[in-house]
Amino acid sequence: MYRLKEIANKVYYVGVNDRQKALFENMWPLPYGVSYNSYLIADEKTVLVDTVDACYADVFLKKIEDALGGRPLDYLVVNHMEPDHAGSIRLLRQAYPEVQIIGNKRTFDMLEGYHGITTGLVEVKEGDTLEIGHHKLAFYLAPMVHWPEVMVTYDQTDKILFSADAFGTYGTLDGGILDTDLDLDHFWDEMRRYYANIVGKYGSPVQKALQKLSGLNIQTICSTHGPVWTKHIPEVVKIYDELSRYEGQEGVVVIYGSMYGNTEQMAEAIASSLSAHGVKHIVMHNVSKSHSSYILKDIFKYKALIIGCPTYCNQLYPEVDSLLQKIELREVKNRLFGYFGSFSWAGAAVKRLAAFGEKMNWTIVGEPVEQKQGLKPDKYEACWALGKAMAEQIHNEQSK
Ligand code: FEO
Repeated sequence: MYRLKEIANKVYYVGVNDRQKALFENMWPLPYGVSYNSYLIADEKTVLVDTVDACYADVFLKKIEDALGGRPLDYLVVNHMEPDHAGSIRLLRQAYPEVQIIGNKRTFDMLEGYHGITTGLVEVKEGDTLEIGHHKLAFYLAPMVHWPEVMVTYDQTDKILFSADAFGTYGTLDGGILDTDLDLDHFWDEMRRYYANIVGKYGSPVQKALQKLSGLNIQTICSTHGPVWTKHIPEVVKIYDELSRYEGQEGVVVIYGSMYGNTEQMAEAIASSLSAHGVKHIVMHNVSKSHSSYILKDIFKYKALIIGCPTYCNQLYPEVDSLLQKIELREVKNRLFGYFGSFSWAGAAVKRLAAFGEKMNWTIVGEPVEQKQGLKPDKYEACWALGKAMAEQIHNEQSK
């Protein structure tokens, strides 16, 4: 029944789109949905690469049945054990009891833990290969891109990389599967948001994986989420390289919490000054309105950030406090940082933001501004000076 897309010689897309889930990992909004990609190589031997979220197992198994056309399924390659990809393994094994499962030592530990499967396993190590007819698969370990058991599979014949989460993005595949068949406009920022939310902490392992893969001739990237990349591989690799090196673009993210608008006025003054002093890319986020996934995306995208908030119960404003924890968790490096805050009777926010900037080992830019109650002319000027200092720092860095 299914007219499955043959994305390369005998390689069929058998993944699914999820437009039902509101929150990925039960945390991150999915305005464009998400796809769980799986690929069936119907060669002399038949090989399935990864499965899909168990919620879609029914349609997934029907697609596999169609792709196989009555043939047995010989192998399942498990590149990643997170349940958005491994969730259907138990049902797949029930449907194809003879399927041999290919993974590494760590894969099998998780396979037993999640699915109780301990038999019919083929363990592979770094660089091992498997000939399946026209295609010849090689396996490379990519630990912590995004979990410790992650590996990637490379088809040496047609130069296809099955990359697990790497080079993935939020967003469903609306009709097309290949990047050349899709409107990509929203995918670029969704790729950054996916990276910042999901993979953000693992910059160093991503860099190691990119180095390892740089020796391969890659013509097609089959990630577990989002488009199959062909024409746009250079852009995709550039984004992942930039993000994993924590190399922000020229621009400033102004992030603030504000209960009654006084701190917000400080943020507005700083942003106006940034613009007046030549900064083109300025993004402002009210932490109580912007979901943290979007704020994190912009923090990964841009080189500089300025954060401000009121003092609340002698602490940071809780929404800002929560954001700082998420930034710290991701070990965001090499940022230019300015900060400001307010209080009604006893100040704590500015002091705590200073401690945060120091802990992150960021470059502190300008003089922090602390205001008591409503915004006064001298504090407005201090905000202006903070914006100016940040703009100058950015221009200095760009001209180096
Ligand atoms: Fe898409 Fe780490 O799973």
